[in-house]
Amino acid sequence: MDMGVFIPIGNNGWLISKASPQYKPSFELNRTVVQKAEEYGFEFALSMVKLRGFGGETEFWDYNLESFTLMSALAAVTTKIKLFASSAILTLPPALVARMATTIDNVAPGRFGINIVSGWAPNEYTQMGLWPGDAYFGYRYDYASEYCQVMKELWETGQSDFKGKYFTMDDCRLQPTPTSKIEIVAAGQSDTGMAFSSTYADYSFVLGTGVNTPAAFAPTAERLASAAAKTGRDVGAYVLFMVIADETDEKAQAKWQSYREGADLEALAYMGVQGAADTASGETSTARAINLPEGAVNFNMGTIVGSYETVAAMLDEAAAVPHVKGIMLTFDDFVIGIDQFGQRIQPLMTSRRVAVPAQ
Ligand SMILES: Cc1cc2nc3c(=O)[nH]c(=O)nc-3n(C[C@H](O)[C@H](O)[C@H](O)COP(=O)(O)O)c2cc1C
Repeated sequence: MDMGVFIPIGNNGWLISKASPQYKPSFELNRTVVQKAEEYGFEFALSMVKLRGFGGETEFWDYNLESFTLMSALAAVTTKIKLFASSAILTLPPALVARMATTIDNVAPGRFGINIVSGWAPNEYTQMGLWPGDAYFGYRYDYASEYCQVMKELWETGQSDFKGKYFTMDDCRLQPTPTSKIEIVAAGQSDTGMAFSSTYADYSFVLGTGVNTPAAFAPTAERLASAAAKTGRDVGAYVLFMVIADETDEKAQAKWQSYREGADLEALAYMGVQGAADTASGETSTARAINLPEGAVNFNMGTIVGSYETVAAMLDEAAAVPHVKGIMLTFDDFVIGIDQFGQRIQPLMTSRRVAVPAQ
């Protein structure tokens, strides 16, 4: 069972609250987090791409580093951990991203992959004149499919003459090609998103759901498995959870309660408006999930709150859900959280017995 960390490339991580730790993203912070993750035996780290924040008193996500350039720097200061950068596909041509990936693979051979982000918040793109209009919501995965085909052709053959609806290559060249396969991950929760992942991705993220209901996402993992059965490809489910841990259940719950009470309602309202813009969203899509009122302060992300023992048992329960290949974590405080995980939680997990011994 792989373990990953969704690194804090944006301010305040994934808690939209005035009461949670307040911090800005920096190379220093992310280097610390990723080097610790590597030391504790994590298999991968992923950074998102976010181009416009939500404002509010916490200026939520108004501060964000850029995903590829950050991962390139992290590639140079790590040796084992796999690194995924996120491509906002409306902003970067696939032939250029294929070359960026090859460059990072050159820094960290065999350790780099790409998260394909089709995009759900129009303002990220309208602000720079790159939003093709709301019809894009309906064809974004067709666009993403062509995008992946171009990159794969370039990586595998060094050349592309791809002619599609959205992309046209004319004897496009790429040298050097990567030292090994550049893995692709994606995170669409809609059926169309999962069909895309099942065709082009090596792993697909599924959202954990609820608070202390670690197996509640099982139907989503099942939907992914059904989609993958149609393409006959092996697409592992990586499930996303936030961990809020402390010495006792009571102490952890008290932190969680205070984060909820401190919700930054102004930033949340902005996020709700952006999510609602997705005219193609269905019952299962992310846009719908983030609009649920109770889904606010933690993005409605599956969250595990408790003592180290409680968290370890619940993560084991999540790992035992059929089709799960890995878990990706966020923390309320990433530096403290990753140490708690590596030293106190992971040693108790049966699904992570192969991992590095506790210090
Ligand atoms: C683990 C994970 C990582 C994601 N990374 C990003 C990201 O970097 N930038 C972004 O705009 N959206 C990101 N998303 C959103 C998805 O890429 C996708 O756009 C969203 O789930 C909407 O697709 P859907 O309608 O198929 O659910 C992420 C979602 C998850 C679960």
